[in-house]
Amino acid sequence: MEKFYTTTAIDYVNGAPHIGHAYEKILTDVIKRHFSQRCNDAYMLTGTDEHGIKIQKTSASMGISEKEFCDQNSSKFQNAWKLLDISYSQFIRTTDDYHKKAVQKIFKKLLEKGDIYKHSYTGLYCSGCEAFLSEKDLDENGCCLIHKTKPEEVSEENYFFKLTKYKERIIKHIKENPNFIVPSFRANEVLNQLENIEDISVSRTKTSVKWGIPVLDDENQVIYVWIDALSNYITALGYDTENETEKFKRYWPADVQVIGKDILKFHSIYWIAILMALDLPLPKHILAHGWITIDEAKMSKSLGNVVSPESIFKAFNLEIPDPLRYYMATAAPVGKDGNYSDDDFKEKVNAHLANSMGNLLNRTLSMLVKYFDGEIKEEFIHKSELFDNAKKTIEEVKHHFDYFEIAEAALKITELVDTLNKYVTDNAPWTLAKEEKWTECGKVLYTILEAMTSVASMIYPYCPNIAQAMANQLKYDINTKLDDIDFKNIKAGKFITKEEIKPVFLRLDSELANKNK
Ligand code: ME8
Ligand code: MG
Repeated sequence: MEKFYTTTAIDYVNGAPHIGHAYEKILTDVIKRHFSQRCNDAYMLTGTDEHGIKIQKTSASMGISEKEFCDQNSSKFQNAWKLLDISYSQFIRTTDDYHKKAVQKIFKKLLEKGDIYKHSYTGLYCSGCEAFLSEKDLDENGCCLIHKTKPEEVSEENYFFKLTKYKERIIKHIKENPNFIVPSFRANEVLNQLENIEDISVSRTKTSVKWGIPVLDDENQVIYVWIDALSNYITALGYDTENETEKFKRYWPADVQVIGKDILKFHSIYWIAILMALDLPLPKHILAHGWITIDEAKMSKSLGNVVSPESIFKAFNLEIPDPLRYYMATAAPVGKDGNYSDDDFKEKVNAHLANSMGNLLNRTLSMLVKYFDGEIKEEFIHKSELFDNAKKTIEEVKHHFDYFEIAEAALKITELVDTLNKYVTDNAPWTLAKEEKWTECGKVLYTILEAMTSVASMIYPYCPNIAQAMANQLKYDINTKLDDIDFKNIKAGKFITKEEIKPVFLRLDSELANKNK
């Protein structure tokens, strides 16, 4: 594999980031970090979506400019991703100059090609949805089902994109590529939606929306929502119709584009049609993740249950994002909905990261110090069956990641750690020490330490800080590629001192972890 390019949805900046937005960025970062262990160039794009009527209205009501409002809120997203150690390679804002220019050129190209045309239109427009509604979107009072407000009757001359022209090609592509939409159970949903698609409006008049990218040579029209937002995935790479930069040629097509299930239609239909119209290759996979609920309830401002990543950091006095990353990344099987609850969070990360994984390393290193003054003797080093076990786990983890089964992959790592724990219990090195069977005892400790190097590597995408702390104590290079793990890392000689041994993760309810509460 030469390169790996992955993207997230770009978040609307009309609010602050919450745990649902965080979920997606964590999933994508875990994917990116995993593939960085399998190729030399993994690139991740994220960003913010900053145009539209909501931004225009909210900023006006606050008495600040749209740009100022976007600057403030875009920073909140960037800060949250920093807190969570999201290792994005690039952050795009749709108000960035290069993006706006490229979008104008894309629009122009599609217009010249005849895939965008002007058309008079009367429809019911909901400003909450930022979309024209049809009969099925209305309740018995003629109000928007989501926003419970009466849509406005709007008559406009707009530009339309010939989505219908690409319908058959998209259907064919989805049918011929069963792994294009991940999870595949969502493909049928998309195929059904494709049955009824119509051409879509891709501009608004300046009088109805002024906060958007103007159409070139038609100053009364503003490019509306989807061509602007979706194009970010290629404009970020420098694509602008006349100019396919080296960066674009290197990274496009994306290996996987990660989005929420609510915007799958836009990504598997609109985006694909736009790419077809531009004669560009299609992304290899679209991963539609599920929804994150809080205590099994939908997050909403009116329910007052919107949870931000920052608030979880505060509540648990987290020093590293790893437990939250691990919890979120394993919250649901691929594509399914997941839930966040404080109790479950604490219980799960304490069990998996502290008791099972962290403690295993800590106990093993402590015994090495206690029985052997921290030294690995030549005769401890041997080939263990457990290494075959660990190798198998690496292959299983890779296989799951090939299908973006992040939670499923983590389960394999937990199972390996359980096996290692069982091995320690079964072989009881403390008993071997009591019986003065020193070589046998040392061999057990060595086996665990060597196997733990692979655990550090595999857990790295989820928990980069814990993995690094483990690697430090194992004298292991955490940048080792997965295929280069050879179970020959632990060398004979003085290995560790008592002072160097530190727990890699403290239980969330331990006294130390709660010292500031
Ligand atoms: O849709 N659980 O922006 P957005 C899981 N700007 N994921 C969630 C979630 C939740 N509770 N709430 C939101 C947009 N998301 C557009 C995207 S892409 C060219 C333009 C996810 O801020 C949602 O599914 O409403 C989406 O993938 C992302 O957060 C941004 O949502
Ligand atoms: Mg949304």
